[in-house]
Amino acid sequence: MHTTMLRSLSLLTLLGISSLSFSAHSSAFTEAEEAVEYRQSALQLMRENFSVMADMVRGDIDYDAATFETRAEAFYHASHLPWDGFRDAGENFRGDGDALPAVWENWDDFSQRIEQLKSDAKALSEASASQDMSTIRSAFMSTARNCQQCHDRYRE
Ligand code: HEC
Repeated sequence: MHTTMLRSLSLLTLLGISSLSFSAHSSAFTEAEEAVEYRQSALQLMRENFSVMADMVRGDIDYDAATFETRAEAFYHASHLPWDGFRDAGENFRGDGDALPAVWENWDDFSQRIEQLKSDAKALSEASASQDMSTIRSAFMSTARNCQQCHDRYRE
């Protein structure tokens, strides 16, 4: 075996990442609880960024264009993250999180909402560059509606 490859393999071992975790599935999750922890952490990351923007849209804190843009950009990236924690795992990976079985029974609808969220997040990030609060507010509200509606259907 090539030495460079050997070296990266032992680095993985050092990091506690055994090659076994990469087998079987295309996602790295071997247990439901890993998937739940992954998606909940990513959803929290999304929420952290979203709630700073919410405070500015509501006027609870002063609107600051640079902060808003940074948060909108981070939110856009974060909006791509949680979903692998649901995906190829199937319902067996429901775990003890708050996702309802409906997620896996209506996978097409759930997926469409994911795609909608990503495009809402992109639109919000673009709107933030306008620095115009009414443009920003309307992009923000569309996104917030999507959070709400998906939670109504798919979250305990
Ligand atoms: C495609 C559907 C969907 C969309 C869109 C969605 N969520 Fe969720 N969200 C869920 C589901 C399902 C859960 C429950 C996950 C679990 O516990 O397994 C959840 C849980 C959460 C949690 C709790 C995580 C935890 O630690 O338990 C937060 C925070 C959250 N969502 C924030 C948001 C925000 C903010 C938005 C919009 C910007 C959003 N979500 C949009 C489906 C969605």
